[in-house]
Amino acid sequence: MKITIIGAGNVGATSAEILFKKNVVKEIILLDVKKNLAEGKAIDISQTAPINGSYSKIIGVTNDYSKTENSKVIVITSGITRKYNMSRDDLININANIVKSVIKKSIEYSPDTIFIVVSNPLDVMTYVAFISSKINASRVFGMAGILDKARYCTFLATELNCYPQDIQTLLLGSHGDTMVPLPRYTTVSGIPIIELIDKSKIDSIIERTKKGGLEIVNMLGTSAWYAPGAAVAQMVESIIKDSKRIFPCSAWLQGEYGLKNIYLGVPVILGKNGIEKILELKLNNEEMNFLKKSAEHITNMIKVIDKSE
Ligand code: NAI
Ligand code: 2OP
Repeated sequence: MKITIIGAGNVGATSAEILFKKNVVKEIILLDVKKNLAEGKAIDISQTAPINGSYSKIIGVTNDYSKTENSKVIVITSGITRKYNMSRDDLININANIVKSVIKKSIEYSPDTIFIVVSNPLDVMTYVAFISSKINASRVFGMAGILDKARYCTFLATELNCYPQDIQTLLLGSHGDTMVPLPRYTTVSGIPIIELIDKSKIDSIIERTKKGGLEIVNMLGTSAWYAPGAAVAQMVESIIKDSKRIFPCSAWLQGEYGLKNIYLGVPVILGKNGIEKILELKLNNEEMNFLKKSAEHITNMIKVIDKSE
């Protein structure tokens, strides 16, 4: 099976390197608009094979979509990143144009593909990808929830001095300041964290999670890539292996959680057909209000795009 990653920058190349190392697919195509960037990174990644025991094939191409033909999954990481003092929303129009053109060229060669969108602002770019692709929404969704969840779990594990993978949680809403972490649905090996950490500490961890992307942008002058790359790889693996894992992903809502015609982070089952089911949790009033605020924020950004059409 073959997958394509569009954008051979930090996130795209890291996703490719992780998938290559794990032998998840037979062939990885890395595509970038910048001459020789994807080719150079693909050659470098391919040379890790004798060290890491990889047997996948990786090929880099400059804007040659014919090489992406019949990809089972296409990951879209092309776009610009946030710079100092820039919000994700500032990226909106530049990245929307990139996403639209990339989707149109990709779908020509892989009409049955599944798109995973990474470019920011995530929920809005996933909407742009869906509208431009004109395919079923179960095959167009966004990566952010796994990353946000990973940040939340890392901060909680540090606080509790425990094994990060023992923390189980869910997170809803947009990728940004209005994301909705759910302490009520967070446990450490089954023990609710609200029994282990006091509320003010949980609140400060939630605040740090919401600003987790910005914390790194402010240090590096560009956005994160190791954890985002690992999150992308986890989604691709669940689709390719039909593992049907449950992840928070940005999905097209049609009445779930009382929301319609919007992409927002919700728990889904990911398998060989893409999103196989959206799971609805029972939320209390406070959680529902946070989710509605998140939806309002995304709706307002989508209006910006619709106006510029
Ligand atoms: P980067 O700047 O390292 O890489 C982006 C790559 O896209 C560049 O190599 C550029 O040449 C390429 N590109 C631009 N236009 C293109 C086009 N039309 N066709 C093909 N390639 C094109 O950026 P990085 O760090 O990899 O981030 C990529 C995107 O992902 C950004 O929008 C960033 O904000 C977003 N992001 C989203 C996350 C999430 O959780 N959803 C997490 C981290 C980043
Ligand atoms: C992140 O959260 C910027 O969306 C990117 O790291």
